[in-house]
Amino acid sequence: MEFIKVKNYDEMSEKACEILVDRMSKLQQPVIGLATGSTPEGLYKLLIDKYKKGELDFSNTVTFNLDEYVGLDDDDPNSYHYFMNDKLFNHINIPAENIHVPSGVAENIQQECLDYESAMKVAGQIDVQLLGIGQNGHIGFNEPGTAFDSRTHLVDLDESTIQTNARFFDSIEDVPTKAVSMGIGTILESKEVLMVISGASKQEAVKHLLSGEITEDVPASALHKHPNVTVIVDEAAWGDN
Ligand code: F6R
Repeated sequence: MEFIKVKNYDEMSEKACEILVDRMSKLQQPVIGLATGSTPEGLYKLLIDKYKKGELDFSNTVTFNLDEYVGLDDDDPNSYHYFMNDKLFNHINIPAENIHVPSGVAENIQQECLDYESAMKVAGQIDVQLLGIGQNGHIGFNEPGTAFDSRTHLVDLDESTIQTNARFFDSIEDVPTKAVSMGIGTILESKEVLMVISGASKQEAVKHLLSGEITEDVPASALHKHPNVTVIVDEAAWGDN
């Protein structure tokens, strides 16, 4: 696991953009795993800028998002699908059929999970998986205690995750309690992982990653088992580590 320490959120976004664009430029059909949340928003803005300047083309890019809330459809402004359309997909030339976000409203969620895994297999492995990290060390919506060999699955969100994500909803009662998420095993199969971490609220998670300890109590620690992980951390998240 390689750590890159940067000054602030903007530098984190720029560094992540530089790495992602470099990888995309080397691939005929890049398969990119995407994350939602506040952390990658700056990166998505930079990708849009590059597309608008004619420096980046998404016509051959295939994407797979990490997760989606159960019960929210694509048009719900709080769904992750809506977030991705709003923050990235609506502003670039990615073909709609190349975009994959798990459905949170599938009649049969178990089948949806299996279908999502199959779609990833058909596309080939994910070339670069972008990740944020939860304050509790979650990746995707794989909460503490999730098995490292888990595949795309239905998850019960941690109380702490519900509290943290309540900022996006009108009230905490509106925050879904379940989600569909790629599993940790799924994430570990990607060829490369690019993790972005910003802000003082992530210091504990960073401390744990730096310790090198591998435990299911901290889902992101599974990434120590992966041969190609870059973690971009800003000073606020690094703290006095
Ligand atoms: C989102 C996701 C989550 C977030 C994490 C951090 O698709 O998978 O694991 O990356 O909750 O969220 P932010 O960036 O909002 O701090």
